[in-house]
Amino acid sequence: MTSLFAPLILRELQIPNRVWMSPMCTYSAEPTGPLTGAPTDFHLAHYTARAAGGVGLVMVEATGVRPEGRISPWDLGLWSDAQERELGRLAASIAAAGAVPAIQLAHAGRKASVNKPWLGDNALGLDEHGWTPVGPSPIAFPGLPVPHELTRDEIAEVVQAFAASARRALAAGFQAVEIHAAHGYLLHSFLSPLSNQRTDEYGGDLAGRARIVLETIDAVRAVWPDGLPVMLRVSTTDWVAEDPEDDRAAWTVEDTIELTRLATARGVDLIDASSGGLVRARIPHDRDYQTRHAGRIRRATGATVAAVGRIDDPAWATRLLEDGEADAVFLGRALLRDPSWANAAAVAVGGKPRYLEQYAYAV
Ligand SMILES: Cc1cc2nc3c(=O)[nH]c(=O)nc-3n(C[C@H](O)[C@H](O)[C@H](O)COP(=O)(O)O)c2cc1C
Repeated sequence: MTSLFAPLILRELQIPNRVWMSPMCTYSAEPTGPLTGAPTDFHLAHYTARAAGGVGLVMVEATGVRPEGRISPWDLGLWSDAQERELGRLAASIAAAGAVPAIQLAHAGRKASVNKPWLGDNALGLDEHGWTPVGPSPIAFPGLPVPHELTRDEIAEVVQAFAASARRALAAGFQAVEIHAAHGYLLHSFLSPLSNQRTDEYGGDLAGRARIVLETIDAVRAVWPDGLPVMLRVSTTDWVAEDPEDDRAAWTVEDTIELTRLATARGVDLIDASSGGLVRARIPHDRDYQTRHAGRIRRATGATVAAVGRIDDPAWATRLLEDGEADAVFLGRALLRDPSWANAAAVAVGGKPRYLEQYAYAV
C-alpha cells in the first residue's frame, strides 16, 4: 500500500510526498517591458505558500517557450535572461519551503492570444498585446481566429524553443520539467486528427501526428540531466469517442496508451493524465471522470502516472494510490482554496505534515 506521504523517486530525484501542485496559470506577469513574462512578487508568494503548505512538488504554471506560445500576454515565459533570473528566485523560494521546484513548458498554439479568463477569455487583437496564433492546420478553435499553419522549419524552431527553455529552467534551479501536450494547446493540437489535417510527415497516422511531441521529448532530454525527470502532461481523450452522438475521429485513451509507450521509451519519466480542451465536448461529472484514465494507462503500460482532476479529499486521494490508479496526485483548485491542503491531509490520514520551523507552533 502506498501512502500519499511516502516519497517517490524519479531517476535520482526524491520527491518528499505524492501530493503535488498542478500547474495553474495565474495571468499575473507583465505583458510588456523588460520583465515581460517574468514572475512577480505575486508568483513568489503564491507558489511559496503552497510549498510551505506541504506539497511534495510545485509545478509552476504553463510557461511559454516563445512569446507567441503564451496563452495570454500575462503568462510566464522562459525565453529571456530576465525571465531566467526571476524564475531562479522563484525556484529557490519553492525549494527553501521544502518542495521540489518543477516547471511546465508550454506552447499555446491555436488557443493563444486570449484575455484573462476573468475578463472574458476573448481573442486579443494585435492592438491589445495580442498576436496571430499558430497551429498544425488552418483550423480555428471555436470562437478564436484561424491559426497560421506552421511550416516544417517553424516546427523545428518550436522544438528547439522547448529545448532552450528547458536549458534555462535547469539553470534557474528547477529539478523537474513538464512538457505540456494537453488541453488543446500546440502539441495536443498536433496529436488530434480534429485539429491536425497535415499531409506531410507531421500529420496522418499516429506516428506522424505524434512526431512533434517525440521530437520535443528528444530535444528536452538532450539538455536535461540524466538524473532528473521529464514529465509529459497529456489529454487522455478529446471526449469525442466517449460521446455516442459524435462519430468524428479524435484523440482517444487508446491513442494515449500508444503515446505513453513511445514517450517513456524516449525518456519521459511520468505521464500526467489530464483530458479535454481541444474542442468543446460533453465531459462527465463523476468524481473519477479523469482519474480512471490514469489507472487505465498505468495498468496498460506500466508507466509511472500522476492523476489529476476533482481530487480534493484526502481519503479519495489515498484510495487512488492504494488501488493502483496512480503513483502521485496533482491538485489544482483545492490548493487555490487552501494552500495548506497537504499538511491538513497528512494530519487527517496519519501522514507526516511538513511544517516549516517558523510554523512549529501550529502543531
Ligand atoms: C485557474 C486555472 C489555471 C490552470 N492552468 C493550467 C496550466 O497552466 N497548465 C495546465 O496543464 N493545466 C492548467 N489548469 C488545469 C489544472 O492544472 C488541473 O488539471 C485542473 O484544474 C483539474 O484539477 P482540479 O480539479 O484539482 O482543479 C488550470 C486550472 C485552473 C483552475
